[in-house]
Amino acid sequence: MKIVVVGGGGREHALAWRLACGAGQRPRADRCVVVVPGNAGIASFFRCRGLSAATCDAVMKVVVDEEPDLVVVGPENFLDLGVVDACLAAGIPCFGPTAAAAALESSKAFMKDVARAAGVPTADFVVVTEVAQAEAFLASRRDRGVVVKACGLAGGKGVVVCDDVDDARLHLQEFLAGRFGDASRTVVLEDRLSGAELSVFALCDGDDAVVLGAARDHKRLYDDDTGPNTGGMGAVGPLGDEEGVSAAFLEDVRQRFFVPTLVEMKARGLPFRGVLFAGLMFDGTQPSLLEFNVRFGDPEAEVLLSAFDVDLVPVLLAVARGEPLPAGLRFEPKLKVAVVVVAAPGYPEAPERGAPITGLYRAQRQPEVQVCCAGVSAGSFGLVVDGGRVFAVSARAQTFDAALDFAYRAVDRLHFEGLQVRRDIGNSVRRRIA
Ligand code: AMP
Ligand code: GLY
Repeated sequence: MKIVVVGGGGREHALAWRLACGAGQRPRADRCVVVVPGNAGIASFFRCRGLSAATCDAVMKVVVDEEPDLVVVGPENFLDLGVVDACLAAGIPCFGPTAAAAALESSKAFMKDVARAAGVPTADFVVVTEVAQAEAFLASRRDRGVVVKACGLAGGKGVVVCDDVDDARLHLQEFLAGRFGDASRTVVLEDRLSGAELSVFALCDGDDAVVLGAARDHKRLYDDDTGPNTGGMGAVGPLGDEEGVSAAFLEDVRQRFFVPTLVEMKARGLPFRGVLFAGLMFDGTQPSLLEFNVRFGDPEAEVLLSAFDVDLVPVLLAVARGEPLPAGLRFEPKLKVAVVVVAAPGYPEAPERGAPITGLYRAQRQPEVQVCCAGVSAGSFGLVVDGGRVFAVSARAQTFDAALDFAYRAVDRLHFEGLQVRRDIGNSVRRRIA
């Protein structure tokens, strides 16, 4: 069984590892995983093949050459470029949504339209391309907050949460004038919600969904959720009863968010096959959908993929072939996982590259710990920093407290000049010991 994983970050490192190991913790002899393009850190565990360009054609050249039994696409840009469509056209099973179905992430206007048609709970909204179209909505929101969202992909920066409508109007004008280029020439304005944020992941076969689990991301750069937004500085999960996320809650999310969305997508001729990631806000009474992503999150993938012992290969292969999810498939995690991201100096605005990295060998020596490599490349004497998020250090244990201790112990063994790390990952779920 040969599997090609497309992507080159910590998420793809975790995916490659999980797919290679099946339900266990050691790579299986009957599995070959190739990562395209991967990175210099992943290359110490798996064969990596570089790309001549970040295009669908360049990916397909390598994929066709490898003749894999299964392709799994990690990042949204390759989904958006149509890698899944191209693989399917070439007769190669590929796990992930088609480019048209991936619009659930790449167009917030499309996502809101699908959610409204499907009856999925989400904030009231309007879609506008001119300020005048927003006036009626803004006038009716005088006494509450409004959120301004670029319709297209804006690298996680295209959302501004505004306290009042005047502030919202100013941001709206800037967005429409092209603050994020074409991505913000269409804008979604929506009601501001409040509550705790939660990411819920489901495997979808076009008709049905099985929940993989829930995780909590830490998006801001600094402790106590301050500083600029990032791709994610750490995550904890799977969340369970103790964190207020019961099996009944997840089943309710499956029935009221995932399944109606799949039904609506199918009715539009866009059956969704792949991982659907719902970003929810939960005020204690009613969860509401903030966004859909059409892939595993990063670093949430590093959390969820090491939390359960299900062999994903037959599951992803079935979905890639257009078959239903295996009957009785359940993800029942026994362990808690913490992931702490180690980022480059200057991340997220202007990451500085080139600093030599030490301590990786010692960091990954604990059996509970896996260091997923992201922004690294090969220097003259070992790995050097080569991107914003450098490592995602993941640790599993019986409790979040223990997992976080393992993860931070490993983090403290890693070193490079200007390293950035949050010290408060998981504080919201740490069990308080009196
Ligand atoms: P999104 O990319 O749509 O998930 O938005 C990014 C972040 O903006 C979310 O993680 C929330 O923290 C915040 N946000 C988005 N929509 C809302 C909303 N309607 N009310 C309050 N905060 C929001
Ligand atoms: N960690 C959030 C994301 O992958 O979009």
